[in-house]
Amino acid sequence: MITGHHPAVTESWPVVARGDSLDRVAESLPAAGAAHLWLLDLTGDPEPDMALLDADERTRSAAAASARGRRRFALRRQALRHLLAAYGGLTAADVAYAVGPWGRPRLAAAPPRPVRFNASHAGDWGLVALTRDRDPGVDLEALVPHDDLDAVARRYFADRERADLAALAPADRLAGFYRAWTRKEALIKAWGEGLSHPLDAFAVSLAAGEPPRLRWLDHGRRPGDGWALAHLDPAPGYVGALALPGAAPAVSGFRLAGPGVRQSSYDQNAI
Ligand SMILES: CC(C)(COP(=O)(O)OP(=O)(O)OC[C@H]1O[C@@H](n2cnc3c(N)ncnc32)[C@H](O)[C@@H]1OP(=O)(O)O)[C@@H](O)C(=O)NCCC(=O)NCCS
Repeated sequence: MITGHHPAVTESWPVVARGDSLDRVAESLPAAGAAHLWLLDLTGDPEPDMALLDADERTRSAAAASARGRRRFALRRQALRHLLAAYGGLTAADVAYAVGPWGRPRLAAAPPRPVRFNASHAGDWGLVALTRDRDPGVDLEALVPHDDLDAVARRYFADRERADLAALAPADRLAGFYRAWTRKEALIKAWGEGLSHPLDAFAVSLAAGEPPRLRWLDHGRRPGDGWALAHLDPAPGYVGALALPGAAPAVSGFRLAGPGVRQSSYDQNAI
């Protein structure tokens, strides 16, 4: 379980196989407030099941610049279908998406069991958040060094965040930058309205020892009161964040076994 600022130790997340095990986990997601996170490892040999994808997914997969990109896209969308099918009480092939005006995908029709989701990916990893009753936002980023972090922060961060970033020890600055970035991005994605909420209308905490927290700087632009943030350390060299409306959620994390997921070192945690 991940609460508040305790990082997700994804190594300890149980590995769950598709089928009955996934269905049991999916059915255990309670209605009120809780979230499940799924880490997808997009490396490995299995070929994606292209027949499972819809026309839009096949077009997007084909448009990726490299064979690896095509494969990663197909694998993560295949995994998302299996997750949504298990949580929503559908079959994976029947999962159909609708896209909001700012690009946020949702299920086109209400499934037998309510489910809401958001997804992110970076490098070899995908991350999916699922809830029953609140729209989640999730972001995953690789800790890629920038030549000029300050310039990027000037463009995207609120003054307060830039000051907090400058106060970090130089060795922690890159991680601090990405803690802020992923928290801001997770919030934007939970709000679902892209960058229509100015990035300097709100600030997030970014120091390593400080709980992830949102502060409103422009009270005229609040998309509702009360937002919970959780910090994630999904894999070495990556950082992530989950945003949800309301009180701090109970979050459980899992790793999906099967195509698109590395099989080694999973046995001890397999369920
Ligand atoms: C579209 C956007 C989600 C980009 O996300 P990204 O970091 O490139 O990619 P991620 O992997 O995290 O997210 C992509 C997923 O988000 C979801 N998504 C797309 N638009 C979304 C939106 N408006 N709201 C919520 N989720 C959205 C989709 O599931 C998408 O998956 P797909 O590629 O399989 O369709 C959008 O938030 C964006 O462009 N943000 C601006 C980036 C920025 O300036 N951030 C500043 C942070 S300080």
